Amino acid sequence: MFDQLIPVLPSTAEAPEGRLRIGGVDCGELAAAYGTPLIAYDQAHIEAAARAWLDAFADHPAGATVVYASKAFAAVGMLRLLGELGLGADVSSLGELEAARRAGIDPARIVLHGNNKSRTELAAAVDLRVGLVVVDAASELDLLEELCAAEGAVQPILVRINPDIVVETHQYINTAHAGSKFGVPAVEAATLLERAAASPWLEPRGVHVHLGSQLLDTAPWGRVLGWLAGWALELRERTGIEVHTLDVGGGLGIAYTEDQAPPTPADVARVVRDTLDREWVARGLRLPHLVVEPGRSIVGQAAVTLYRVGVVKDAGDIRYVAVDGGMSDNPRPTLYGAEYRALLAERCHEPASGPWWIAGVHCESGDVLVEDAPLPTPVRGELLAIAATGAYAASMASTYNLVPRCAAVLVGDGTHRPLLRGERLEELFARDVDGG
Ligand SMILES: Cc1ncc(COP(=O)(O)O)c(C=O)c1O
Repeated sequence: MFDQLIPVLPSTAEAPEGRLRIGGVDCGELAAAYGTPLIAYDQAHIEAAARAWLDAFADHPAGATVVYASKAFAAVGMLRLLGELGLGADVSSLGELEAARRAGIDPARIVLHGNNKSRTELAAAVDLRVGLVVVDAASELDLLEELCAAEGAVQPILVRINPDIVVETHQYINTAHAGSKFGVPAVEAATLLERAAASPWLEPRGVHVHLGSQLLDTAPWGRVLGWLAGWALELRERTGIEVHTLDVGGGLGIAYTEDQAPPTPADVARVVRDTLDREWVARGLRLPHLVVEPGRSIVGQAAVTLYRVGVVKDAGDIRYVAVDGGMSDNPRPTLYGAEYRALLAERCHEPASGPWWIAGVHCESGDVLVEDAPLPTPVRGELLAIAATGAYAASMASTYNLVPRCAAVLVGDGTHRPLLRGERLEELFARDVDGG
């Protein structure tokens, strides 16, 4: 069981005597210290993944900035760890901006996104002097200009361009097709850059494109950058504006199942560089400074979620094992039909007794974390681990059914420290006007 799941587990995962260990710490010890559910992050895995991104783009002649897409998991401790390694942050809300600020991320390395940024968010970003605001609509450009004028600040911007490309991933995380709510069409992107160039308060640096998430193939980056070359040439010819900065978004996938083999950051860098050399430089365009925004590929596979087994029962042909969390700590299976792999954390080497459906505690039939997980017959009270839950699980958590949100812990070199503590029942009532 364990050996088969190595491709989806954090890099330091091991199972001496059948007990799952991460970062040199027994998962039973973690569960005892923090309760369950618990999201346990492997620090070594995160650091290696972050370095792989930095290294992949380190020799880009025009320079490159790697910003962590904080939406994947925005705990301040995680942002601080990544900031200390040299990453910036991609933020897309006031909360994520504040997390980056609290983590001490250099504002020059913060990129603000969002398809509908509020006045408050834009004002906070300008006030902090973030490195880039990625403009998503004409009205936003006006609002940003007004705020910059009031603040006396010149804001570097990118425009998010919609390349009208459909990539192979779930429709909810496909973001670059014509009907997407993100970005503006190519013609409008050029218009917005022209308008920015005419403003004393805005500095048009270039464009941003994000293809989608959980991409398991590098070809889409080649396709979109090739297409963008034609657009950049036309822009320069018509307006004289050059693309100084090209933000190629995030989106690199991870292995959720053992048959998935995602490309590496170096593979992405190679396709990006080859395409820029072939389609941009060879056609007389300058090599742009690059921004990359990995999220999932840094934290996704770095974590497992530990649950306590509760009810074990048969329902018709299905054998259920219910755990003490579910769609509130990981909505991805319910939201996208996302697949995960699981194992019993204290019996990693025992053979499976058959396929089990791992059900959550919530009042939805769709609250099933894994269908058909091969497990030994689970026993009430033991620990069950679901792999590769580090991205878009805690950050999408809810308190559905008034279930408090779970803790997250960073584990490394035999020690552990909490990133998020478990929510207390009392805190659920803090904003309930009659709940005190
Ligand atoms: C603009 C932007 N950048 C980066 C990311 C990060 O993507 P991923 O976590 O797949 O790397 C996203 C995710 O949706 C995004 O929308």
